[in-house]
Amino acid sequence: MMLLAYSLGIGSCPVVSFNKTALKELLGIPEHVEPVLMLSFGYPEFWPKAPRRRPLREVVHVEEYGKHFEG
Ligand SMILES: Cc1cc2nc3c(=O)[nH]c(=O)nc-3n(C[C@H](O)[C@H](O)[C@H](O)COP(=O)(O)O)c2cc1C
Repeated sequence: MMLLAYSLGIGSCPVVSFNKTALKELLGIPEHVEPVLMLSFGYPEFWPKAPRRRPLREVVHVEEYGKHFEG
């Protein structure tokens, strides 16, 4: 959804920190459905520059934590 939005010139932001009880009440979400992530969308005033990507070696662990990806 975020990539599609971007392709249409729409910005987005994922949000995991929200009041689940309030959201469920607001949107009439049934008890057995657990919202885990929301996406907000909007037309940005400007597009920020992409931040530096950390190398895969730094962020990918293979089989166990600390065994770094050597790609
Ligand atoms: C899984 C996920 C959950 C996030 N949850 C929140 C959130 O609860 N509140 C918030 O303000 N931003 C949230 N963000 C947005 C990040 O704080 C940040 O603005 C976004 O990832 C862009 O920053 P970056 O370019 O450094 O990744 C979330 C991002 C991701 C990927």
